[in-house]
Amino acid sequence: MDIRIQAGDIAQSTADVLIVNLFQGVTSPGGGTGAVDRALGGAISQLIAQGDIRGKSGEFTLIHTLGKIAAPRVLVAGLGKSEEFDVDAVRNLAANLVRQVRKPGIKTVATIAHGAGIGGLDPAACAQALAEGTILGAYRFTRRKGKGTTDDDNGAIESVTIVEHDPAKVPAMTAAASRGALLAEATNFARDLANEPSNHLTPTGMANAARELAAAAGLECHVLEQVDMEQKGMGSLLSVAKGSAQPPKLISISYRGRGGEGYDLALVGKGITFDTGGISIKPAAGMEAMKADMTGAASVIAAMRAIAALKPAVNVVAVAPCTENMPGGNASKPGDVVTAMNGKTIEILNTDAEGRLVLADAVCYARELGAKNIVDVATLTGAVTTALGDVCYAVLTNNDALATKVEAAAKASGEKTWRLPMWKDYDDLIKSDVADIKNTGARGAGTIVGAKFIERFAEDTPWVHLDIAGVDMSDRERGWVTKGATGYSVRTLINLAVAMGS
Ligand code: BES
Ligand code: MN
Ligand code: ZN
Repeated sequence: MDIRIQAGDIAQSTADVLIVNLFQGVTSPGGGTGAVDRALGGAISQLIAQGDIRGKSGEFTLIHTLGKIAAPRVLVAGLGKSEEFDVDAVRNLAANLVRQVRKPGIKTVATIAHGAGIGGLDPAACAQALAEGTILGAYRFTRRKGKGTTDDDNGAIESVTIVEHDPAKVPAMTAAASRGALLAEATNFARDLANEPSNHLTPTGMANAARELAAAAGLECHVLEQVDMEQKGMGSLLSVAKGSAQPPKLISISYRGRGGEGYDLALVGKGITFDTGGISIKPAAGMEAMKADMTGAASVIAAMRAIAALKPAVNVVAVAPCTENMPGGNASKPGDVVTAMNGKTIEILNTDAEGRLVLADAVCYARELGAKNIVDVATLTGAVTTALGDVCYAVLTNNDALATKVEAAAKASGEKTWRLPMWKDYDDLIKSDVADIKNTGARGAGTIVGAKFIERFAEDTPWVHLDIAGVDMSDRERGWVTKGATGYSVRTLINLAVAMGS
């Protein structure tokens, strides 16, 4: 989909639909909405006077123009109360709107920049949010559908033109919109990987996707095979892979925007392409969702694509430990003790706590590569859903300054986060009788226990853990969040790298 900014009068646009807006309580529309109202002989004002249009958030009114103006349709979007309307609302509105106008017969859309007029928001920020929301909201996973259910039958928008009456604002808005498109397209790339079923996306498939992405973006991609992992003593990661017929892959993609050695930032993502639980097998109901237990890996890989395009002056490496967690004949068994790359011994009490096991070695590897800061992203615990639902994700850290940067990047992305404590009091929960640590706690604080485990491998490197298990998949569409894989964390990681490089 093409997103453009054009200077001019939206009332004269020949698009298939014009999108204008109204704040709640406004009785005589101004700006672009006013221009379209006048061109329609006061039709919008009349609908307001009649009480048909009230400007409430979520209110969409379609008006057929029947030859009065060039465009055959006008959609008036309610913006709600102006004091509650912010850039996040613009992103969500744009996503809801693109689904609202997705009908056969509508290919081209012209819109005003919601919020940039009497809303008083920065026009460039609005343009970016509009581009992001439009591309994120239009996303659908159709790759595994047969013929007859293609985009053509459901309607597909080809272009969205943001019409701005002040030509002086157009250059900044254009740059911002293309930045938004870049962030959204990277997110959709991650969604495609996560929505793909596990028989179509194995660890080998992840490695191939990473190599392709790196080649297209001009980045270096390196994949450690099982023998390499054995050589490096990655007994923790290998213990998860043992039960599967699919070979594990430890993918890394590097970007050197500052040049020189080492990495200012390592993005480490959990890549379990299917999590059966292993010998500690999961119940059958709902297990299909575990095809997406690799959204962390998808996020860090996808983020690299946009980071390469935005070129911040930092060195960033993405590290994605990828394997299936299967109960094969050679699988790890509860009570087994394995040794990770840093020499720590781990008692595996529950083979379903596999995410922390693969991240342990991946975090050690990131440190070996010279990472000065580490952010890991993982669908680590069901407990995070119990605590926070699907509204936000958990942030846990050994370094307040780095966590504050991550939280700021999340805020800029319209993603909500919540910090959980990492007090030493929780350390006892992973003490093992037979090894250095165990991979599960006793009771309670499940999300913190997972983070406490990974912390042992980050050691003294500033590290932040994002547990996205509650938000990475959605059962419904709401604003920029679409059904299936949501792509949570992708834009945050990109914004973080950009912030660290400026
Ligand atoms: N991948 C799961 C966590 C998960 C659950 C993600 C639901 C998304 C939706 C993880 O590997 C897991 O199984 N965690 C266990 C840990 C427990 C055994 C300590 C859990 O949360 O039950
Ligand atoms: Mn598991
Ligand atoms: Zn898992």
